[in-house]
Amino acid sequence: MAKLTTQFICQSCGSVSPKWNGKCNDCGEWNTLIEEVVETGKKKVDAVHQNRISSNPPVKATTLAEIPRKEGERMQTAFGEFNRVMGGGIMKGSLILIGGDPGIGKSTLMMQVAGYLDSNKETILYVSAEESVHQVRGRAERLGLEKAPILLLAETNLNEILLQARNLKPALLIIDSIQTVYLPDLSSAPGSVSQVRECTSAVMTLAKTEHITTFITGHVTKDGSIAGPRVLEHLVDTVLQFEGDRNHHFRILRSLKNRFGSTNEIGVFDMNSRGLREITNPSELFLSEFSQGITGSVIAVTMEGTRPILVELQALVSNCNYGFPQRNTNGFDQRRMTMLLAVLEKRLGTPMGTQDVFLNVASGLKIDDPAADLGVCIAILSSFREWSIARDVVFIGEIGLGGEIRSVSSIEQRLMECAKLGFKRLIVPKASLKEAELPKNVEVIGVNHIQDVYNRMDEWLADLQL
Ligand SMILES: Nc1ncnc2c1ncn2[C@@H]1O[C@H](COP(=O)(O)OP(=O)(O)OP(=O)(O)O)[C@@H](O)[C@H]1O
Ligand SMILES: [Mg+2]
Repeated sequence: MAKLTTQFICQSCGSVSPKWNGKCNDCGEWNTLIEEVVETGKKKVDAVHQNRISSNPPVKATTLAEIPRKEGERMQTAFGEFNRVMGGGIMKGSLILIGGDPGIGKSTLMMQVAGYLDSNKETILYVSAEESVHQVRGRAERLGLEKAPILLLAETNLNEILLQARNLKPALLIIDSIQTVYLPDLSSAPGSVSQVRECTSAVMTLAKTEHITTFITGHVTKDGSIAGPRVLEHLVDTVLQFEGDRNHHFRILRSLKNRFGSTNEIGVFDMNSRGLREITNPSELFLSEFSQGITGSVIAVTMEGTRPILVELQALVSNCNYGFPQRNTNGFDQRRMTMLLAVLEKRLGTPMGTQDVFLNVASGLKIDDPAADLGVCIAILSSFREWSIARDVVFIGEIGLGGEIRSVSSIEQRLMECAKLGFKRLIVPKASLKEAELPKNVEVIGVNHIQDVYNRMDEWLADLQL
């Protein structure tokens, strides 16, 4: 007889514990155990045994060479940015999870991907478990997609959804969202860890057995992890994060895990009343508000996947009025900035210990490319020394603890992007220049040490000094 019992599941590692603990015994994380009601005592059916009964042919292992090569395994959308983040198109039969903060635009993105799919002969099934079909139609109308050949289904029972999908055999299935669908066999509420996990595995089985490309959307929890349990990320093929700053209209689609492509790629979109518009040259957007004459403002280049993006770094250095100097960053690793401050203090003798330092990556972008180190140092020095950097200068380089400027990856792409956007003087690590092909009509200046840059700073200041 089935019996209801309570157990505790770790949101971080998915391990199950019979009683509540402050700390997970498996992964050591604190406050991650949450209560779940489960049914026990059900007779388990052996999957292999069931297979035999249903007279499916017994499984047989094959060699790699025996497996035929499939052409056209990726589906393309009219969103070039989306295709690139997916690794060159959507891999057929894969399961993709799109996570993001509530209201960031996940449903909008899914609707546009469905509407922009290249193959218009195939069936697309959009399951809305959060909104009515009228609301989805309203959105489609706003996006100019009301005539797109998309089948809509407003349903939350996953068994019904799977049945429909098996009957219709769509080329693309979208389930919006995984936290609102449920399996009636489980007693826990929709959105709970066990529901989300079991629903995802049921959808995974469908995607793999029927070869249906499936997208599921999920909310990000308070601590920033997608759809609650991390175990979900292991189940799916690709995890995309849709992020953005509420105060900015641009959105970034980031690949966190991809079994069929690079995980460094990002796609940049602009959100407006007509939906998402892809931005093929994000540097222009990020630099649109850059103005000469402000001290502490410097241009650097960060690589996001295979693409160089120019960003404006802003630093503010002011006298510390309280006992302990403040270090605050927005879009840059705070510990890395602290390290760079120590390098400036030790190698250039700049007294940072008595200064509050604030660093901001303009436009809300988050960067973790060490090639931005030199830009960060110059932005800090610029604010501290009241320098105003000329509009046409870009600083590229990783800084070591000795103050040496170390070579960076993809130097040619970075330089090309700077030249394309009209920057004329590019300060780069000398070591990176050995075999690099340099763009024409720009001055590329190789430097070895932060002291070299400091000594030559006069050459790169704006004529107009505040
Ligand atoms: N008429 C409009 N004009 C401009 N922007 C709009 C308009 N309607 C919606 N939006 C934008 O779309 C966003 C909501 O998009 P969407 O419903 O796709 O988000 P979501 O991530 O699916 O949200 P949820 O988490 O509630 O499912 C809003 O936050 C807003 O930025
Ligand atoms: Mg939504």
